[in-house]
Amino acid sequence: MLCPSAECQPARHPPSPAVLLSLTLLLPWAAGSTLNCHMTCVCASNIVSCSRTNLTVVPVGLPQYTAVLDLSYNSITRLRAEWTTVKLAKLHSLLLSHNGLTFISTEAFLYVRQLRHLDLSSNALRQLDEYIFEPLEQLEVLLLYNNHISQIDRSAFSGLVSLQKLYLSQNQVARFPLELVKEKTRLEQLILLDVSSNRIKVLPIQELQALPAWIKNGLFFHNNSLPCSCELYSLVAQWHLRHLSSAVDYKDDHTCSLPGLQKATVNIFDLNRDYLNCSSMKAADQEAYLGQTLVLNCDTRQRDMAKAWMRPGNMPVPPDGNESVVVLKDGNLQISPVVLEDSGIYACFATGQVLNETIYVSVRVHNFTLAGGHDSMNTAYTTLVGCLASVVLVLVYLYLTPCRCFCCPGCCRAKAHREDSVHSSALSSTPSHGEPSGRAGLARHVAFIDPKELQGQNGKVSPGAAGEQCEPEDRRDGNRRKTSDAESVSSVCSDTPIVV
Ligand SMILES: *[C@@H]1O[C@H](CO)[C@@H](O)[C@H](O)[C@H]1NC(C)=O
Ligand SMILES: *[C@@H]1O[C@H](CO)[C@@H](O)[C@H](O)[C@H]1NC(C)=O
Ligand SMILES: *[C@@H]1O[C@H](CO)[C@@H](O)[C@H](O)[C@H]1NC(C)=O
Ligand SMILES: *[C@@H]1O[C@H](CO)[C@@H](O)[C@H](O)[C@H]1NC(C)=O
Ligand SMILES: *[C@@H]1O[C@H](CO)[C@@H](O)[C@H](O)[C@H]1NC(C)=O
Ligand SMILES: *[C@@H]1O[C@H](CO)[C@@H](O)[C@H](O)[C@H]1NC(C)=O
Repeated sequence: MLCPSAECQPARHPPSPAVLLSLTLLLPWAAGSTLNCHMTCVCASNIVSCSRTNLTVVPVGLPQYTAVLDLSYNSITRLRAEWTTVKLAKLHSLLLSHNGLTFISTEAFLYVRQLRHLDLSSNALRQLDEYIFEPLEQLEVLLLYNNHISQIDRSAFSGLVSLQKLYLSQNQVARFPLELVKEKTRLEQLILLDVSSNRIKVLPIQELQALPAWIKNGLFFHNNSLPCSCELYSLVAQWHLRHLSSAVDYKDDHTCSLPGLQKATVNIFDLNRDYLNCSSMKAADQEAYLGQTLVLNCDTRQRDMAKAWMRPGNMPVPPDGNESVVVLKDGNLQISPVVLEDSGIYACFATGQVLNETIYVSVRVHNFTLAGGHDSMNTAYTTLVGCLASVVLVLVYLYLTPCRCFCCPGCCRAKAHREDSVHSSALSSTPSHGEPSGRAGLARHVAFIDPKELQGQNGKVSPGAAGEQCEPEDRRDGNRRKTSDAESVSSVCSDTPIVV
């Protein structure tokens, strides 16, 4: 990679006085002539460097074997379709930074389809039109930082199937380009997206949390105009806990603006203590119920790593697994059915070319099943039966025992009250997504299933010393299941004529 970091600048080649003199004599370029390397640019085998030569247009007659073309620090304000009239099939790096570029033709890259590195940084671009980079199927690095880009067409980057790094910082982008990283629409090879120092006001926090760690690791969004919130705090704090570069390397630049009159800009990492009293971020256990199928995610910072698992008590999981424990194709560990002994701290050892990682997942198995954990029809059925039974009881109560109520109004109210609380607890088991305290939502749900069992859960199992490094596990799956359960409960009950 020629220019792996956002900070690096294209190589500068100060031209010799002789070159400068001859340049002034030769301008403007005679169309069709071959580039006289000796007189105008500096050519070194397949490198053509015309940096800082006061060019206003791209010189014509570039040699067809050119692999690197450096046009930085000039005054080429427009990149027209016909900037090169010959196919430059060998060109892999085109450097156009510091030119005051305001316009790029949608056909500008038709003749340079082999480009792997394109530097358009520090120019005056305002928008990126649709399909503008489409011919560049080999492009790996695209530098667009320090422009005036405020509009990015949703298909501006389509076709960039090899793109790995996209630098968009220091622009005026107001919308987070979620489509570039989200599953299904994302650029398949993208491992770095820098939208820091822009004007983004809304971050799709839940979608970002759902991304695999190898994308989040290279997702830079600091120094925008984000409003402070505890969700934002928990996102950034969680990424920091995972040692993701985007949160660790720019810790001091992760700022947000406080709501209300103050409008002060504060560091996101201070939100829990000083400003919003957000609850501090701790690594969370993954919870499971007896008989469930549990998948432990080995969510590594790097893609395509070799993964091996260790069960609690340093028992290695055989690569082929056995009936109950299987390492899936993607390196995740599947335990099915879950038994009490599966509780504990699991370790995933991931080895890659650049780094090795160990990821700890702490699992807590509840000593009861989540009714119908794997078939929700069953749950719905039991719930329906439960609801109908309640209806019958209520009807019996209302119509068959009127006199007792007259006789004993106190007991009547007490009875009604009990009935009441059963239903309100059933109906109030709302889905708990978006809530930082997923455990509270869980407890509420559990309370409906079996209040007695809950009491045993009050003494939370502490993950112990190793828990410090443990993974904050993504419990979306659990949440979704809870959600659908809760929905099935309320949808079934809301059809029944209970008005208590
Ligand atoms: C470019 O223009 C500047 C200012 O007009 C001048 O000082 C400099 O010598 C020029 N450089 C070349 C290579 O012509
Ligand atoms: C933050 O962004 C603003 C523009 O949005 C820029 O002027 C400033 O230099 C940036 N600060 C840092 C620390 O990058
Ligand atoms: C945060 O909590 C402290 C003490 O618990 C309290 O004094 C302070 O007012 C709270 N701050 C906010 C912004 O709620
Ligand atoms: C599967 O392997 C683990 C050790 O890796 C062992 O503890 C467990 O008992 C095995 N299960 C069966 C059903 O063989
Ligand atoms: C990762 O671990 C393997 C085996 O333990 C070792 O051979 C390799 O050098 C390690 N790689 C790095 C980058 O530390
Ligand atoms: C699990 O719960 C059952 C009763 O619900 C009890 O008999 C059993 O001892 C419990 N097991 C453990 C390990 O707590």
